[in-house]
Amino acid sequence: MDKNSTSSRVSPPGPPWHNMLEAIRSSPPVYLLQLAKKYGDIVKFQGAFPVYSVSNPESVREILTKAWPEFTRDTIDYKVISTVFGKGLVTNEGESWARQRRLMQPVFGSKSVNGFDTIINSVTQNIVDDWKSNGNTNIWLDREMSRITFQIVSRTLFGADIDEVADEMIDILMLLNIHPLRLDALLRLFPYIPTPSNGRFKAANKRLDEIVYSLIKAHEDCTNESDDIVDRLLKAVDPETGEGMDKKQIRDEVVTLMLAGHETSSTGLTWTFFLLSQHPEIEKKLLEELENVLQGRTPESGDLTQLPYLKQIVQESMRLYPPVWGIARRSTNENNFRGYTVPANSYIAITPYVLHRHPDHWVNPEMFDPDRFAPGESKSRHPYAYLPFGAGPRACIGAGMAMLEMQLIIAQILPLFKLTPTKGHPIEMEAAVTLKPRFGMKVNLTRR
Ligand code: HEM
Repeated sequence: MDKNSTSSRVSPPGPPWHNMLEAIRSSPPVYLLQLAKKYGDIVKFQGAFPVYSVSNPESVREILTKAWPEFTRDTIDYKVISTVFGKGLVTNEGESWARQRRLMQPVFGSKSVNGFDTIINSVTQNIVDDWKSNGNTNIWLDREMSRITFQIVSRTLFGADIDEVADEMIDILMLLNIHPLRLDALLRLFPYIPTPSNGRFKAANKRLDEIVYSLIKAHEDCTNESDDIVDRLLKAVDPETGEGMDKKQIRDEVVTLMLAGHETSSTGLTWTFFLLSQHPEIEKKLLEELENVLQGRTPESGDLTQLPYLKQIVQESMRLYPPVWGIARRSTNENNFRGYTVPANSYIAITPYVLHRHPDHWVNPEMFDPDRFAPGESKSRHPYAYLPFGAGPRACIGAGMAMLEMQLIIAQILPLFKLTPTKGHPIEMEAAVTLKPRFGMKVNLTRR
């Protein structure tokens, strides 16, 4: 896809006019892939504003590792998201972000995260029991996975305190978590305009604050020794300044973690189960691995090193269906990528969906082949050709937790149930906040 040019100050190639209808019809990541195939690794197109799409792993490395202040999150997407996330890790920037990342990193270190396996397994067990008691039946897999991952992230944050308000919280988060470039989302930047959607938004945000602040207060007042994430955030002290976080900052981090940490993992799981159902020989090999290592018992975090094929499958599934399909940045200065000039103050689109199908880095890119991630196979591949969790200083803080939960949930469910997509139900990708099935994923459950 590389149409490299050596001359300086050359504007990247791109379509003479932006085919908005085609972009919407085929979905933005598919459209961006078509552009990359036609025009190369650096493409310019004029949407509502000029967009520079960068799909060369080396240029992507430059953008993501230099990060702030050269490449910022000062984009319309992040402005809209921050109306809910406040100054949580995803939307924060500069010194304030660096301080928060230092404070929160230990909570997401592998030692700490591995201890979440008990919560992951008990939440999964409850759902499995539900399915068992309903007999062989049709379920909406995407919703069930969302139920599991929401309960996991909220229990790791708040312990059992969340249970009473969990259903209400899910409804509120669904209303708040819409694609930032949708009109009703954009209107949130103008809260004084009295539209019905702004009214609903304000009410939902207010109720979310009430719930989260009361849960934080309950943790402060609690004399029992508990050790969930909110307890750790309340105790966290910056080693450089000796300071902790104020309540508003904890609210913003908690809301950010709930939103960033549940739909991502649930779409990853949904597509993995779907791909397994379409590739019986791969599913069989995985079932054999699980049987050999676990022999029917519930997996723990310590078992995962013995289950390499399971990890490969999750990695390959996120290659084809990266839950975070696009990453946006704004350039502060003028840049030169592969000989093309990208002016200062440009909107830059990095699209894992496109990188993960780059023909220079992936043989037969549309094929589901977990062996691409077999030991040694990744060594010769450019490290920035595969970015499900982003990279550089702003890489996903929850990557370890996400990998742990996805592997444990699959290892628990797959030996018990065969999941078959319901015949006739359309399966199509929708690039919303995450890359999800447009019409949901209806599957038939059969006990093994
Ligand atoms: C399969 C699941 C997940 C995927 C694919 C994913 C993907 C990503 C990606 C690509 C980024 C970087 C975005 C950018 O550079 O603009 C990111 C950031 C982030 N993720 Fe995840 N994520 C997942 C799960 C989680 C979980 C479980 C949590 C926490 C419970 C989490 C919390 C965050 C946070 C807080 C950030 C912002 C980090 C920062 O800027 O310092 N994510 N995630």
